[in-house]
Amino acid sequence: MSRSQTNPKAEIDDHLANRWSSRAFDPRRPIERERLLSCLEAARWAPSCFGDEPWRFIVADRFSEDELDNWKNLLDCLTPKNREWAQHAPVLIMVCASTHFRQNDKPNRWGEYDTGQSALSLCIQATSLGLSSHQMGGFDEDMARGHWGIPKEVQPMSIIALGYMGDDSVLPDTLREVESAPRSRRPMSSLIFSDRWRTPYFRQED
Ligand SMILES: Cc1cc2nc3c(=O)[nH]c(=O)nc-3n(C[C@H](O)[C@H](O)[C@H](O)COP(=O)(O)O)c2cc1C
Repeated sequence: MSRSQTNPKAEIDDHLANRWSSRAFDPRRPIERERLLSCLEAARWAPSCFGDEPWRFIVADRFSEDELDNWKNLLDCLTPKNREWAQHAPVLIMVCASTHFRQNDKPNRWGEYDTGQSALSLCIQATSLGLSSHQMGGFDEDMARGHWGIPKEVQPMSIIALGYMGDDSVLPDTLREVESAPRSRRPMSSLIFSDRWRTPYFRQED
């Protein structure tokens, strides 16, 4: 199921075009264990500076009795606005970035960059399996550090809501409108440059 209205200006891979941050999750449909494993495995195979693999994840599945408390803790960390819709997601995943290299304990200024790649790998794998993903930066970092004892050299980055897309009738009116709005992106000319900063690489587009 997809309500996404993506309108790429050039051919892109279907999974990239079909990924979007839906807020409507099917609250009754769990994620199969092997599909969840595939998403996390995709995250693990992301590239990273010096092969450091700085990403860390805290995962909880609402449908697993053992994990319900942990899932509730993840939900509690979210801002009220995010909680409003993320409460229907069967799986919540906190994404953290290690800020120091394992090898020599020096600061790793690519740790967050690499962790973002890993998170997107997870989301794209989810799309390819028919799942929806929605990353959220809106959460209480201190609460997260307290709950899980996250060390100071690890930076909590986001919480990903994961599940099958549901009917948008579960959403409040305002969010239902956002859900069906056309998606857009900034023009390439404002992002992709050539010989000088801000000189567009593609001159004929937009
Ligand atoms: C790091 C990060 C933080 C985000 N934080 C939130 C958030 O707190 N709440 C929310 O509803 N969406 C959040 N989003 C989703 C973005 O709003 C969304 O990715 C963006 O609008 C583009 O839409 P698309 O993902 O459908 O392409 C976040 C996305 C990222 C990557």
